[in-house]
Amino acid sequence: MTAAPHYDLQHIQHTYGSRDVLRIPALRVEPGEILGIVGPSGAGKSTLLRLLALLEQPTQGTATLHLDNQAVTAESATMGQRRQVVMVFQRPALLRRSVRANIAYGLRVRGERDHREPINAVLKQVALDHLATADAHTLSGGEAQRVALARALVLQPRVLLLDEPTANLDPYNVRLIESLVQQHHAGGSSTVILVTHNIFQAQRLATRVALLLDGELVEAAPASDFFQSPTDSRTAAFISGDLVY
Ligand SMILES: Nc1ncnc2c1ncn2[C@@H]1O[C@H](COP(=O)(O)OP(=O)(O)O)[C@@H](O)[C@H]1O
Ligand SMILES: [Mg+2]
Repeated sequence: MTAAPHYDLQHIQHTYGSRDVLRIPALRVEPGEILGIVGPSGAGKSTLLRLLALLEQPTQGTATLHLDNQAVTAESATMGQRRQVVMVFQRPALLRRSVRANIAYGLRVRGERDHREPINAVLKQVALDHLATADAHTLSGGEAQRVALARALVLQPRVLLLDEPTANLDPYNVRLIESLVQQHHAGGSSTVILVTHNIFQAQRLATRVALLLDGELVEAAPASDFFQSPTDSRTAAFISGDLVY
C-alpha cells in the first residue's frame, strides 16, 4: 500500500464573486516532493497556494491535507496543525523592527519559547547574521526575502509553500534562496510547493511540475517528463516560450 498523499484535491472550483478562477478536477501532492507550480500571471497559482495553505476553503470541492494520518481541511485544521503549514507570500510584510525580531515574531505567535539558538542558526543559514540588529525596512529586496524565508524555516514546517520566492531578485539571491529551499527539503520530512513563473527555477528545484493556465490544471508530471516529453501541447508551448500570454 502506498503512503497517504500529503494533499488530495478533488473537484476544486474556486470563484471570487462571479469570477471562476480555479478548476482542478484532481491533484495529489505526495509527501516529500517539491512540486513546482508554473503558469503565466493571473493563471491562479497564488489562489491554489492559498487553498493548499488552508487559508481559504475552496468554493466547491475538497482540499485535504493528510498530516500524521489525519485528514485536515481549512475548516477543520487545529492551531497545532496549522503551525505545520507555512506560506511565504510573494510580497512578505516585514515588521518595522530588527531582522531578529521579525524572525522571533513567527515563533512567538506560535507560542514557542527559548528561541535564541534556532534564530541564530537560521540567521547564519540565510547569511544575515551580520544584519541581525538592522531595521528590516532598510534591507534590500533579496535580504528582505531571506528574512521572510528565515521566518518560515525557523518554524520547521512540514509543508513549506513559496509564492514566487525569487521574483525580481538578482542572481546571487536567487541562487542563495534556491539552495536554502534544497537544504530545507534535504533535511527530511517536509513537502515543498513552489510557485514560480520561471520554468528554469522549476526545472532546477522541482521533483514534479504542474502547469496552470487560466485556472485550469493542464498537466502535472514528474519534472523530467514535464520538460522532456510533455503530454499536452500547451505544456510544450509554455516550455518553449511559444505560448502567447
Ligand atoms: N481576492 C480576490 N478577489 C477577486 N479576484 C481575485 C482575488 N484573488 C485573485 N483574484 C483573481 O483570480 C485570478 C487568479 O489570480 P492569482 O491566483 O493571483 O494568479 P497568479 O498567482 O497565477 O498570478 C486573477 O484573475 C485574479 O485577478
Ligand atoms: Mg501570484
